[in-house]
Amino acid sequence: MKTIFSGIQPSGTITLGNYIGALKQFVELQHEYNCYFCIVDQHAITVPQDRLVLRKNIKSLAALYVAVGIDPSKATLFIQSEVPAHAQAGWMMQCISYIGELERMTQFKDKSAGKEAVSASLLTYPPLMAADILLYRTDLVPVGEDQKQHLELTRDLAQRFNKKYNEIFTIPEVRIPKVGARVMSLQEPTKKMSKSDPNQKAFITLLDDPKQIEKKIKSSVTDSDGIVKFDLENKPGISNLLSIYSTLSNKPISEIEEMYASKGYGDFKGDLAQVVINELAPIQEKYHQLIDSKELDDILDEGAERANKVASKMLKKMENAMGLGRKR
Ligand code: TYM
Repeated sequence: MKTIFSGIQPSGTITLGNYIGALKQFVELQHEYNCYFCIVDQHAITVPQDRLVLRKNIKSLAALYVAVGIDPSKATLFIQSEVPAHAQAGWMMQCISYIGELERMTQFKDKSAGKEAVSASLLTYPPLMAADILLYRTDLVPVGEDQKQHLELTRDLAQRFNKKYNEIFTIPEVRIPKVGARVMSLQEPTKKMSKSDPNQKAFITLLDDPKQIEKKIKSSVTDSDGIVKFDLENKPGISNLLSIYSTLSNKPISEIEEMYASKGYGDFKGDLAQVVINELAPIQEKYHQLIDSKELDDILDEGAERANKVASKMLKKMENAMGLGRKR
């Protein structure tokens, strides 16, 4: 059976973008692959976090993974910092990364632009991400489009390591969904929807209540020509809403365009709000059952144990390949 690894940062409550771009794929793929799904808390601290909020977000993300349909008896669900091999392997991957290639990462450029105090970890984030993936002999990494460049770097680093030291890493492939790979901000539809956006109206979280969802969709930025039609260049707002509608209703975009051919944006947005509310209702119900349960802690304990076993074996191989410590 082939292996999947993917991770999500607990840097806020996850959004409809994370759900459509990543989580929805995970749920479908877990039946065909040996899956590792990670709460990457060590990635989250590359920017300042409040410690109590971070703790809360970690548990909340764990509950959401299960609530959307990840089956912990099939997939291994765990917290990155509870598997020390990630940080250890991350250091080794940093040692074979070049500053130039890390500085070229668009995420680094975006997050560091105009800031005076930029943490070193913001630059060395991709080698840690490479370590996450490579520790599990991962064949496939399902992610949204914004992670494509990091995946390309991961492949480069794996090949570099294999060539320089020993052929120990599997070279992973990236998997990006056809529709919904880049869900956009509801307020600035040329910018991606992000859980860390300071404008709350720009994103829908998986825990928003029906009223909030309706309000955010109704006040989303569109255009003034009143035609529900997919046109990324001239109608980015409506195109984004159409993509969301399509992925959640499993209807092709063309069919939705036809449904609203003689209707206005008001009807379209009202119906879309209902589609989103209906999708999230069962997820939220399951979430509330889980969030303070012992079951969730047991799932995470077991996940960490399983992940530790696999990751520590690969870590040993990496250390042997690089000549660290004593041969054992
Ligand atoms: P993160 O936490 O920013 O996002 C988690 C996943 O959600 C996808 N995503 C989106 N998809 C569509 N539209 C959007 N607006 C949108 N926003 C986010 C992301 O592409 C991602 O799949 N570096 C990663 C976390 C990570 C990781 C890994 C991922 C760490 N190690 C190893 C895969 C494998 C990140 O910041 O994701």
